[in-house]
Amino acid sequence: MTVRVPAKVNLQLAVGPLRDDGYHDLVNVFHAVSLFDEVTAEPAGAPAVTVEAAPDAQVAIEGVPVDGDNLAVRAARLVADRLGVEPDVALRIRKAIPVAGGMAGGSADAAAALVACARLWDDPEAPRLSLDDLMKLGGELGSDVPFALLGGTAVGVGRGEQLSPVEARGTFHWVFATADGGLSTPAVYGECDRIRAERGEQVPWPQASPGLMAALAAGDAAALGAHLDNDLQAAAVRLRPSLSRTLDAGRGLGAVGALVSGSGPTCAFLAADAGHAADLAASLGGAGVAKQVVRAHGPVPGAIVV
Ligand code: C5P
Repeated sequence: MTVRVPAKVNLQLAVGPLRDDGYHDLVNVFHAVSLFDEVTAEPAGAPAVTVEAAPDAQVAIEGVPVDGDNLAVRAARLVADRLGVEPDVALRIRKAIPVAGGMAGGSADAAAALVACARLWDDPEAPRLSLDDLMKLGGELGSDVPFALLGGTAVGVGRGEQLSPVEARGTFHWVFATADGGLSTPAVYGECDRIRAERGEQVPWPQASPGLMAALAAGDAAALGAHLDNDLQAAAVRLRPSLSRTLDAGRGLGAVGALVSGSGPTCAFLAADAGHAADLAASLGGAGVAKQVVRAHGPVPGAIVV
């Protein structure tokens, strides 16, 4: 059973106040892009996981846990537990999504494992786990997991796990600049809190941007580019100052929008169209400001069995 699952970029990440449970209330506009991991699940006695880099993808997989800490293994255990079966599975993850890159790669793998294991163990005639059930299980594993199941473009509130699809017209063309080494998501949120405390800022309740929603509904890349916004960007740049050079390079080369993806360090550049994305990718590749430059389009569907 092989499941293909997309990366995400956050078109808007509005971070609200820190909650008592250590999370922040968000307005998180997720957009699934055509950069995919593949998770293969096979019966195998006990839960085990191996990780390999997809051909051509310069993803450093050394940091990915290959034990029970891997979110995909936890997903398999959760499905087995819910269905009352033994978690008899070997998972093989083929990664093209940067590790700890702010593109929800680990969450994507967990989403793929949920779908693959449900297919392996659930009753095909009368499935006990619906997509809705899997999305709830996903929310227990991580804030970004439900979106990897859903795909498309969606707004997440709460921790980001309560999703509503967003109307988006046409296709948007992106260029992603990956970086050496990841950034820790909790560290970036912590830095965001510190910056706000230093500035004595009142943290407003997060709101979806009407301009962003209108740009999506119209399929207007230039307007979308102007409304891209990530409250974690300043924190990611403070932890990784070289990102400001990467963002400036993309802007200077004519990207219609530029931002850090999620908690970073991957930077996302929106192009006017497919041809512009090809030109932008070629010039960014030559600028020496990224580990790897990859093109992708969105929106694309969430986790699907291949
Ligand atoms: O939910 P997930 O495990 O992906 O979150 C990773 C970390 O990111 C959390 O432990 C928390 O530090 C931070 N986070 C947050 N607010 C959110 C989502 C994540 O502070 N809404």
